[in-house]
Amino acid sequence: MKPKVYITRKLPSEAVEKIKQSCEVRMWDKEDVPVPRDVLEKEITEVDGLYCLLTESLDEELLNKANNLKVISNMAVGYNNIDVEAATNKGIIVSNTPDVLTETTADITFALLMATARRLVEASDYLREGKWKTWSPMQLTGQDIFGATIGIIGLGRIGKAMARRANGFGMNVLYYNRSQKNETEKELGITYTDKETLLKESDYVVVLTPYSPETHNLISGPELEMMKKSAILINTSRGGIVNEKALYKALKENEIYAAGLDVFEEEPISLNHPLLTLPNLVATPHIGSASRKTRLKMADMAADHLLQALNKEKPDHIVNPKVFSEAL
Ligand code: GLV
Ligand code: GLV
Repeated sequence: MKPKVYITRKLPSEAVEKIKQSCEVRMWDKEDVPVPRDVLEKEITEVDGLYCLLTESLDEELLNKANNLKVISNMAVGYNNIDVEAATNKGIIVSNTPDVLTETTADITFALLMATARRLVEASDYLREGKWKTWSPMQLTGQDIFGATIGIIGLGRIGKAMARRANGFGMNVLYYNRSQKNETEKELGITYTDKETLLKESDYVVVLTPYSPETHNLISGPELEMMKKSAILINTSRGGIVNEKALYKALKENEIYAAGLDVFEEEPISLNHPLLTLPNLVATPHIGSASRKTRLKMADMAADHLLQALNKEKPDHIVNPKVFSEAL
């Protein structure tokens, strides 16, 4: 009997076809609407494999309904949407899609940094709204990137890719990470600091750490207060890492210069959210990994992981390797 698989969103057809070759597939076939909780609750009871996105919250309550589930393949590098401990206790393999999206996500992180520093969105609106009457000396002036200090919080794959870009722009690079990385420091010519020093000395503070209880509200009122008045905050990681109320206040009262966000505490962010009233915020709808090529690769990679696990092979990227040796 073929294993049963549920896919929680309409995927690129190549990935679906690949899974269909050896599995019985059911799929939530809408592209722009996440699967409703009650549908997922029903589907998860029977299946052997689940292919999901970061929009699905796979908490313990839901996992307790999964009687046959062997693998959750998440089409994302972040997996804070999954209760990994509960999955591990139930012997369910969890896989994610790192590496393929590293450079693409570093690109958008740098793009947000540049757009925010040089007020690109505001300037574009200014032109389109007919406000451009003449060239004038201080019109739409922003912040320099060349020669500035960037502080990277979280020196993982994306953090390193960001450091390389910053080097290319002649920036001075600081980083803060749970562990100091001596080799990388030498290789990239970057400097380790504590969080407080990084916040005080950086012109750009860039958040690239995974979301966990330890990083929840890592940037809140006190941290924003430590930052320079001219500093810019960029977050392309997960919304919960930055406290949005505190950020709103800091931006509104010009305690910091600007922010660029690709991620939010609640996604999609409500159009009534106070942050969206601010001119010194550049906001994008969680598109960090959204190049065509990378998203196709992520979809394919997550399909491979699912099939590997159902085949009793170890997926190329596994979040909870412990379970593999114990479960299969
Ligand atoms: C996107 O945010 C991801 O985690 O892949
Ligand atoms: C994510 O892949 C990271 O390690 O930065």
